[in-house]
Amino acid sequence: MSSLANNYNRRKIAFKKGKGSFLYSTNGKKYLDFVQGIAVNSLGHSNSYLIRAINKQSKKVWHVSNAFIIPEGEKLAKRLTQKTFAHKVIFQNSGTEATEAAIKVARRYFYSIGKPKKNRILCIKNSFHGRTIAAIFASGSKKMTEGFGPKAGGFDHFEFGNLKSLKKSINKNTAAILIETSMGENGIKVHTNNFLRIVRKICNKKNILLILDEVQCGIGRSGKFFAFEYSNIKPDIVPIAKGIGGGFPIGAVLINKKTSSAMIPGTHGSTFGGNPLAMSVGNAVLDQILKKSFLKNVQKNSKYFHSELKKIQIQHPNIIKEVRGVGLLIGLQLHKDQTKFIKKLEDNKLLTIRAAENVIRILPPLNVKKAEIDMAIKIIRKVFKDYK
Ligand SMILES: Cc1ncc(COP(=O)(O)O)c(C=O)c1O
Repeated sequence: MSSLANNYNRRKIAFKKGKGSFLYSTNGKKYLDFVQGIAVNSLGHSNSYLIRAINKQSKKVWHVSNAFIIPEGEKLAKRLTQKTFAHKVIFQNSGTEATEAAIKVARRYFYSIGKPKKNRILCIKNSFHGRTIAAIFASGSKKMTEGFGPKAGGFDHFEFGNLKSLKKSINKNTAAILIETSMGENGIKVHTNNFLRIVRKICNKKNILLILDEVQCGIGRSGKFFAFEYSNIKPDIVPIAKGIGGGFPIGAVLINKKTSSAMIPGTHGSTFGGNPLAMSVGNAVLDQILKKSFLKNVQKNSKYFHSELKKIQIQHPNIIKEVRGVGLLIGLQLHKDQTKFIKKLEDNKLLTIRAAENVIRILPPLNVKKAEIDMAIKIIRKVFKDYK
């Protein structure tokens, strides 16, 4: 009997090693892993470049406090600001912490300009930003908040994609609108570029900050470094995590010049966030993702993957409702519960994971090979063909 708490519904499968897109189970089976720790292992398992980087750093220094200068973190922050809208970076350990830090930055900004009452965060109803108390109430989902009262205040909600509902929910105390650029857990739902542009305009007009959660869709997963680049807008604050660590726990919040002025010493901190080991891995991940051809390949491969899945959907319109997503954040929405199909895919040695709205989530590593996509397509085609 496991001594681990029952807060996960674990599949009865364990792995002894992984390499690239593949995982090898303890009972001798080889799986094509299109979960990759839920969009975490951006460069697949046991990437030799990342192994070299972590080994090298592990022989120098693992951890020092943020009370000292950490050159590896200075370097990673500099690269992130040079590449993006951001002026400053605060490192964390996870996506939830990054989202919480984003909320803190927004509130602290208005406090610092003498508007402490402008502190409400407007979020999408039933969205997902993590599991801490603030993050679950930011989501507002009954499933996540039930039993965890008292309610953390300061969050308002609007309906996904509904501008009318968004406009109605804004009031004079709205400090920020928090949106996941392309929603992962919620069923791979992609906002239209137009919607994001209009939200940016509303924020400008009403002096509201725009926080775009790129924890899952960021760092190349969408085919661009950030998913919001498709809409040509600039957010004010962006939490990231998952892909930037390639499997090592890293979170960060990227903040623009305006809001960074509010984060003076003592306003935020983390014991582990930004330690030399994590930062060396983060830099090594960027070395790969920022290579000229890398994102072009993600776009090319994802275009191919989407079009092959679309063909399967056309063959099985009574089972598959829609092919969703952007880049290598892919969802197959079924007309009914997807659990059985995920199990069948697993039986055929393809690992996928659920998302809301009956979606099978497909998350290959960003450096997936075309031949591996073909393997997955073959398995998916077989599973839907065999379905009676
Ligand atoms: C969009 C988004 N935000 C926040 C989080 C929370 O990240 P973590 O589980 O690393 O705390 C997740 C995790 O899935 C996520 O997808």
